[in-house]
Amino acid sequence: MKRLKLKELESLLQRVDVFEQPKLLLEQYPTSPHIAAHMLYTIHTTFDDIESKLIGDLGCGCGVLSIGAAMLDAGLCVGFDIDEGALNIFNRNVEEFELANVDMVQCDVCSAMTNKLSKAFDTIIMNPPFGTKHNKGVDMKFLKIALDMARTAVYSLHKTSTRNHIQKKAEEWKIKMEVIAELRYDLSASYKFHKKKSIDIEVDFIRFSFK
Ligand SMILES: C[S@@+](CC[C@H](N)C(=O)[O-])C[C@H]1O[C@@H](n2cnc3c(N)ncnc32)[C@H](O)[C@@H]1O
Repeated sequence: MKRLKLKELESLLQRVDVFEQPKLLLEQYPTSPHIAAHMLYTIHTTFDDIESKLIGDLGCGCGVLSIGAAMLDAGLCVGFDIDEGALNIFNRNVEEFELANVDMVQCDVCSAMTNKLSKAFDTIIMNPPFGTKHNKGVDMKFLKIALDMARTAVYSLHKTSTRNHIQKKAEEWKIKMEVIAELRYDLSASYKFHKKKSIDIEVDFIRFSFK
């Protein structure tokens, strides 16, 4: 298959449908096509952690990261999300792009179900909830579970303000952590409580691997 260029990937991801009525408590904001394409392209070209790999996408939502990974020739990408509505949109997206290397599971990532998937995936990719909506600490729970599920590496987005805390945890868990990029994440106007039309927050794109 012809290898996709970064611009081509970004423009394909612009056609991925996103949350129709985002649920605030589940922190349902999609990764923008621009950020998703850059993340996935880096994971692919710099680290070779996508092509032919078994990939998990935790808190996959409508699936932009899984779909992009599938387009970059993942062996199989499995998305996990608690929300049936999001997975319905994800499923429609997969059908629209006629992708055969994507699957999805409805579950609470923080439940015991994921214990059975220890070291079941080569790579975990995720844009987890940040833990700012009555769910404090959920970002670190996602990270701990992702590290348990991955054999090679975890790629994740975290608020830059939590970097020191994550660094301490990574040391405690004997995990190597590399901030690959500092991003500006546009929390779009989908949430009514935001007074401004759009709010940029600083986010780290981080690669975690095993020492
Ligand atoms: C920030 S959104 C990211 C969505 C998608 N990965 C993307 O990049 O566009 C976080 C996602 O995590 C899901 N989520 C929140 N809590 C969850 C949980 N406990 N278990 C599984 N999914 C959860 C939400 O439904 C939402 O789809």
